[in-house]
Amino acid sequence: MSEKKTHIVTLIPGDGIGPEVTDAVVSILEATGVKFTWERFAAGAEAFETYGEYIPKELYESIERTKLALKGPVTTPIGGGFSSINVTLRKKFELFANFRPIKNLPGLETRYPNVDMIIVRENTEGLYVGLEHEVVPGVVEALKVVTATGSTRIAQFAFEYARKHKRKKIHAIHKANIMKLSDGLFLRCAREVAKGFPEITYGEHIVDNTCMQLVTNPYQYDMLLTENLYGDIISDLCAAFVGGLGLVPGANLGEHAAIFEAVHGSAPDIAGKDIANPTALLQSAVLMLRHIDEEDAANSVQSALEQVYTEKKTLTRDVFGTSGTRAFADAVIAAMQSKKSN
Ligand code: NAI
Repeated sequence: MSEKKTHIVTLIPGDGIGPEVTDAVVSILEATGVKFTWERFAAGAEAFETYGEYIPKELYESIERTKLALKGPVTTPIGGGFSSINVTLRKKFELFANFRPIKNLPGLETRYPNVDMIIVRENTEGLYVGLEHEVVPGVVEALKVVTATGSTRIAQFAFEYARKHKRKKIHAIHKANIMKLSDGLFLRCAREVAKGFPEITYGEHIVDNTCMQLVTNPYQYDMLLTENLYGDIISDLCAAFVGGLGLVPGANLGEHAAIFEAVHGSAPDIAGKDIANPTALLQSAVLMLRHIDEEDAANSVQSALEQVYTEKKTLTRDVFGTSGTRAFADAVIAAMQSKKSN
C-alpha cells in the first residue's frame, strides 16, 4: 500500500473566537486519519505584539510554500487602525473568488428549509481596494475600482462552477442604475461570459431589491454573482436562512493559493467562553478537504456533522443547544469514529 500523503497547511487561528473554533476543527481533521502538518501563525494585533508586523513575513512565506491555509477570523479595528488582514491576504495572493455555499443542515429547523444557493463574490476589487483619502478636512473620497479583467474572471469562475455542478441559474447583483460605469462594466462582462453558457439561465437584479427578494422567497435564486461589497452584505443576510453565522463556510480561491475560512467574524461578544459554534469553520475545512482531493475524509466529516445535528443532543447555543464548542467537536469525532467502526 502506498504511503499516505501529508498535507502541509498554513494555520491562522485568528483572534476572538478564532482559536477556539480552530482548535475544535483541527481536532476533527486530525481524527479523519488524513495526515497534516500545520504551520501555525498569528495575524493581526496578536502578531504585532510578537513580530512587530500585523502579517508576519513568515506567514506570507508559508502560504507561498503551502498554497493552502485554514484561517480563523481576525478582528479589524473600526474607523482607524491597521487594514483588514483578510482583505490584505486576499489581495496579496489574488484570491479573486470568494465562494460561499448557503445550505441547510439536516435536523436544524430554520425559517426557510431546503435552501441551497451559492454566493460567488468578487474578492479583490470594488470599494475593498481600500483607496480612501481626505481631500480637505470634512471631505473623504473612497475609490471603487472595477476592471474588465477582474469582472470577467469572477463571472467565468461562477459560470464554470455552475456548468460543472449542474446549477441552473446565475443572477448578477448590481447597482448599475446609480454606479453606471463601475457596476455597468461588471454587468457587461457578466453578460459577455454568460453567452458562452447557454444552458445556464442568466438574470440581473439590483442589490436593494435582491435583499427584499431574498427575504421574501430565497428559492428563486440558485447562484448569486456579486461584486465585493454586495457579496459581503448579502452573505450575512443569507446566513440567517440556514441558522446564522455559526454555520456558513467560505473559500477564498485563486490560481495559485486558497484560504478557507468561515463567513463570520471574530465575535468578540462570545469569545473565550467555549460557546462559539465551530460548524462554519468545519464546513470550510470540508471544502478544503475536497480542494486537496481528500473526498472520503470530506464525506466522513460532513456525514458525522449531519448526524450530530440530526440527533440534536450536542449542539451549541446559537442553534438552540446547550453544549460548548469543545463538546460539540468531541461529538462530531465520536460520530465519525462510530461510523468507521460500523
Ligand atoms: P461577527 O461575525 O464576528 O459576529 C456577528 C454576530 O454573530 C455576533 O452576535 C456573534 O456572536 C455571532 N457569531 C459569529 N460567529 C459565530 C459562531 N461561530 N458561533 C456563534 N455565534 C457567532 O461580526 P462582527 O461582530 O460584525 O465583527 C467582529 C469582528 O470580526 C470585526 O473586527 C470584523 O472586522 C471581524 N470580521 C472578520 C472576518 C474574518 O476574519 N474573515 C469576517 C467578518 C468580520
